[in-house]
Amino acid sequence: MPLIGPKAMFERAYAESYAVGAFNVNNMEIIQGIVQAASEENAPVILQVSAGARKYAGQPYIMKLVEAALMESDLPVVIHLDHGADFEICKACIDGGFTSVMYDGSHLPFDENIAITKQVVEYAHERGVWVEAELGKLAGVEEHVSNEVSVYTDPDQAVEFVERSGCDSLAIAIGTSHGAYKFTGAASLDFARLETISRLLPKYPLVLHGASSVPQEFVEMANKYGAKLGAAKGIPEDMLRQATRSGVCKINIDSDIRLAMTAYIRRQLAETPEEFDPRSYLKPAREAVRLMVQHKIKNVLGCSGKA
Ligand code: G3H
Ligand code: 13P
Ligand code: ZN
Repeated sequence: MPLIGPKAMFERAYAESYAVGAFNVNNMEIIQGIVQAASEENAPVILQVSAGARKYAGQPYIMKLVEAALMESDLPVVIHLDHGADFEICKACIDGGFTSVMYDGSHLPFDENIAITKQVVEYAHERGVWVEAELGKLAGVEEHVSNEVSVYTDPDQAVEFVERSGCDSLAIAIGTSHGAYKFTGAASLDFARLETISRLLPKYPLVLHGASSVPQEFVEMANKYGAKLGAAKGIPEDMLRQATRSGVCKINIDSDIRLAMTAYIRRQLAETPEEFDPRSYLKPAREAVRLMVQHKIKNVLGCSGKA
């Protein structure tokens, strides 16, 4: 199965009120865990690559690993740039075979964000590549930007942004945030705002970043074997499910992959201290990713059997 763009995936997800999972990939075990889970569930999937992942593994390695994963599966897979910081990185990914890119100008003034998004859209669309953009600011830390507080997306601005920039999908801020520490008190998302944005942009795919749920089983397991994760709290799964009923077609998950792998690696190292073969702890880590992604697909995203 060749790599595909997300258009048909999102059209079906929108019509049937489910979301496609966009999982961050950094190495072979993560890619294998995700693709195995999606294949078993016959689910559409997006593999996304951050600037940090490109730096860590190198873009050609990631592309070849994804190609290798696809040789074992006939699953439709999108390869997407996550949080592209400028036109150049978007161009490099488009030229390198990505089927979708995100330009993230959310930290810029409105008109500047539109202008650069538009430039990326023009380059991408000439080459048949999808463009996600972002309006509003999520709290939390990403590679190139760190926000202490979020600025929620203004619904009228979202409409103007989409019309003027021509972006194909839009990441919005309604209370999710990046990383494992999302809420100190009770979790809450601004569903009224999401519903308004979705009503003003009918049939338009919205994207939720910072959507890890931070499963407490992983936090507890990691802490039991030496981690110090503190009061890590994520987005409750029922809230993610609710978001898929209001135009959210893509849900981004990275922190849950990190937590699953770290918890299982810590346990394996603690329980087999005589071992020094990396395969002995990377294998359970890969299995943890597979099980976690399978759970998301089946019980949270609702995209089982939709490939
Ligand atoms: O939103 C950010 C993603 O979790 C990627 O994180 O930049 O550390 O690879 P990263
Ligand atoms: P989490 O940190 O909640 O996994 O968010 C990931 C993300 O938004 C990647 O773009
Ligand atoms: Zn993100």
